[in-house]
Amino acid sequence: DSIKVFAPATVANVACGFDVLGFAVENPGDEVVLTKKSTPGVKITTITGDEGRLTKDADKNTVGVAVSRFLKHLQIDAGIDITLHKKMPLGSGLGSSAASAVAGVFAVNQLLGMPLNQQELLPFAMEGERIACGSAHADNVAPSLLGGFVLIRSYDPLDVIKIPTPANLYSTIIHPQVEVQTKDAREILKKQIPLRDAVTQWGNVGGLIAGLMLSDYQLIGRSMKDVIVEPIRAILIPGFEDVKQAALSAGALGCGISGSGPSIFALSTSEEIAHKVGSEMQKVLNSIQIGSEVYISKI
Ligand code: HSE
Repeated sequence: DSIKVFAPATVANVACGFDVLGFAVENPGDEVVLTKKSTPGVKITTITGDEGRLTKDADKNTVGVAVSRFLKHLQIDAGIDITLHKKMPLGSGLGSSAASAVAGVFAVNQLLGMPLNQQELLPFAMEGERIACGSAHADNVAPSLLGGFVLIRSYDPLDVIKIPTPANLYSTIIHPQVEVQTKDAREILKKQIPLRDAVTQWGNVGGLIAGLMLSDYQLIGRSMKDVIVEPIRAILIPGFEDVKQAALSAGALGCGISGSGPSIFALSTSEEIAHKVGSEMQKVLNSIQIGSEVYISKI
């Protein structure tokens, strides 16, 4: 018995929603192949596309951990061989570790006859995140698993809500060829924030959700502002302010850091604008000698 599963990359935070908002894109993403074996135990047999950088130790790799926790929870003594095809960049802010964990846990659930529903798979994928970066945040794993735009209203207890999105919403992601580790990008954040910044931020989170649900594109744009995390993390991304300005001048509704960076995302109302936004962002990075890759998706 064998199964192949693809899980998509995700944009976490979506400007104002640190750790509570995220959406899935159409590409890139990761692919896993899981095969049932007669000898019990989880083994990662092959990893491709990682230039040899990821560990095959199933207790230390995000996909291995997610699958093992799932089996342990259900007290199933199965043997599972995992092949992981990384089809997206590591340390990119696109939820690379999340996509692997989600693909793994979705695949093992299918392979064993679906003992759990999709929502119930989340905590296991989150354990994969904990191994990858030290925190079990869900704003990449939840949208990767459930698709679309997702709000994590609460972590304890876990309360995950799918948010409807307007008919014409396109994302542009640009991945500059520099690397940022999520763990480092979390450590530099302030642990306390001024009340006035909190007020601004939760106004924007509410505004963004309302904008998505009302298909009010201008409201979506106005709400895509982050006064708490972006000012600190922007220094990790060369040319960030200029790239953002280029995206907005090209007609994007809003623009921000994708997850913990260095990828930068923008939302637009048409595929045409999304492409134009991508090429204008790319021009800025080219001008400072930073290579990049652009991904366009419908949300
Ligand atoms: N919410 C997380 C962070 C996402 O910003 O650290 C990491 O991809």
